[in-house]
Amino acid sequence: MNEIKILAIVGSLRKESYNRQLALAAKELIGDRAVFNLLEYRDIPMMNQDIEFPAPEAVKRVREEVKSADGIWFFTPEYNHFFPGVLKNLIDWLSRPVSDKEPQVLSGKPAAISGITPSMAGTGLAQDHLVTLISFLNMNVMNVPRLTIPNAAQQLDGDGKLALTVSYPYLEKQANAFLGFIAKQIGK
Ligand SMILES: Cc1cc2nc3c(=O)[nH]c(=O)nc-3n(C[C@H](O)[C@H](O)[C@H](O)COP(=O)(O)O)c2cc1C
Repeated sequence: MNEIKILAIVGSLRKESYNRQLALAAKELIGDRAVFNLLEYRDIPMMNQDIEFPAPEAVKRVREEVKSADGIWFFTPEYNHFFPGVLKNLIDWLSRPVSDKEPQVLSGKPAAISGITPSMAGTGLAQDHLVTLISFLNMNVMNVPRLTIPNAAQQLDGDGKLALTVSYPYLEKQANAFLGFIAKQIGK
């Protein structure tokens, strides 16, 4: 079956990350309309050109996962009005050509961006910086709609888990738009 494959990249390594919970909510919402995986990348090393070739196994693995995805959905926290360094490090690895015959794996990939924060900021500044970076890397960014969720604490359930009350319709809108955006580009 010609299923759409979405890879979620969460810019937080925290176990209880709100952004990870948001990605899981998106996965549930999308259901069987696409294969939706979360990229695990805590094992990739810090970029160091001394170890770039041959690429470390963990880097090879994440490159393969990105390569086989039809679209990449970023879920990013905001750290000091920027996206976190772990995400920059991952993207730096992904930005390098696989070999002299194979270009970097992000080029041309459809991308969506969402973010959630406990503050009033909503992650908009972090998202703008991420757009600058991934546009430079020739990703195909879906700029409308993007999802910025402030005041995460107002959308928790009794166990402190993200319940996404008021933001759910916006996540739904973005998920539908991204499925359409990908389908249009890859003809699925
Ligand atoms: C180094 C650092 C800088 C931060 N800077 C910001 C910021 O600029 N804006 C903001 O809204 N929250 C900021 N925060 C708070 C994060 O939004 C909060 O920790 C959030 O829960 C992180 O996302 P996560 O839950 O997905 O891990 C910062 C947190 C850290 C650790």
